[in-house]
Amino acid sequence: MDQPFRHCRCLRRRPLTATALTRAPQQPARITGRLGDILARRGIAPDAAAQEPAPEPVTALELAEGRIPARYRHALADHPQVTAWADEIARSGRPGPAGAPGIAEGPSLRIVGPTGTGKTHQAYGAIRTLLAAGVRLRWEAVTAADLYARLRPRPGFDSERDLQGLMRCPLLLLDDLGAAKTSEWTEELTYRLINHRYEHLRPTLITSNLATDALRAALGDRVASRLAQMTERVTLDGPDRRRTRPAA
Ligand SMILES: Nc1ncnc2c1ncn2[C@@H]1O[C@H](COP(=O)(O)OP(=O)(O)OP(=O)(O)O)[C@@H](O)[C@H]1O
Ligand SMILES: [Mg+2]
Repeated sequence: MDQPFRHCRCLRRRPLTATALTRAPQQPARITGRLGDILARRGIAPDAAAQEPAPEPVTALELAEGRIPARYRHALADHPQVTAWADEIARSGRPGPAGAPGIAEGPSLRIVGPTGTGKTHQAYGAIRTLLAAGVRLRWEAVTAADLYARLRPRPGFDSERDLQGLMRCPLLLLDDLGAAKTSEWTEELTYRLINHRYEHLRPTLITSNLATDALRAALGDRVASRLAQMTERVTLDGPDRRRTRPAA
C-alpha cells in the first residue's frame, strides 16, 4: 500500500502516522520557565516587556502624518480661503458607520501661484485640518508628473484600476497640475480624472503654477472649463519661500 506523502524521501523512511503528527502538549509553565532562562542568559529581565508603558492611542492625524511627505508633515493652512474651504468640507461631512463625519460631496479648491509661494504647503495643511477636525478621510495625493508616470501602460499593471481609485477617492490632492510635459495621452487621462470628479462633486485640491489661460493651453479647454466651474481659486503671491530665509 502507498504511504502517505510518498514523494517525500524523509517521510517515506518514516511512515506518517497519527503519532508522528501529534505533539505532546507543552505545559505553559514549562515554556515560561524556559523563556525565563533564555532571557536571563541574555541579561534581560523576564518581566521587562510587561513593564513597558501602554502605547498611547494613535489619532487619525498621527496615522495620516505617516503618509504626508516629511516636508509638509506639520504644514498649517493659514490662508483664509483655504481654512474656509476646510471648514466647509468638515461641516458638509455625513456621519459614517463609526459616527465620525465622512466627506462625500463638496467644493474643490485650485491653489495657484508662482514657484515656492506655499501652494503644496497650504494643500497638505488643509488635509491636516480636516483630519484634526475628526473627519473620516480617505485621501490620496499625487503630483501630475508622478500620476502620468505611474499610469503609463505597462505589462502586468492594471493602470485602469489605479485611475479608477483616484477618480473615486473621497479627497484627492492633485499637485502641480500643468507642470508635466503634456501629450494627447496625458490630456485624455487628466480629462477623465477631472471629469469624473467634476460630475460626482468630489472634493479635489489642485495646485498649479499656471494661470487659467496657460492651464487651458496645457490641458485643453475641456479640463479648463470644468476646473473653472468646480473650483474656487486661491492665488498665492510673494517671493519664493525656498529662497528667502525667515527673519531671525
Ligand atoms: N505658510 C508657510 N509657513 C512656513 N513655511 C512655508 C509656508 N508655506 C510654504 N512654506 C515652505 O516654503 C517652501 C515652499 O513651499 P511649497 O513647496 O508649498 O511651495 P509651492 O508653491 O508648492 O512650490 P512649487 O510651485 O515649486 O510646487 C517649503 O519649504 C514649505 O515648507
Ligand atoms: Mg508645490
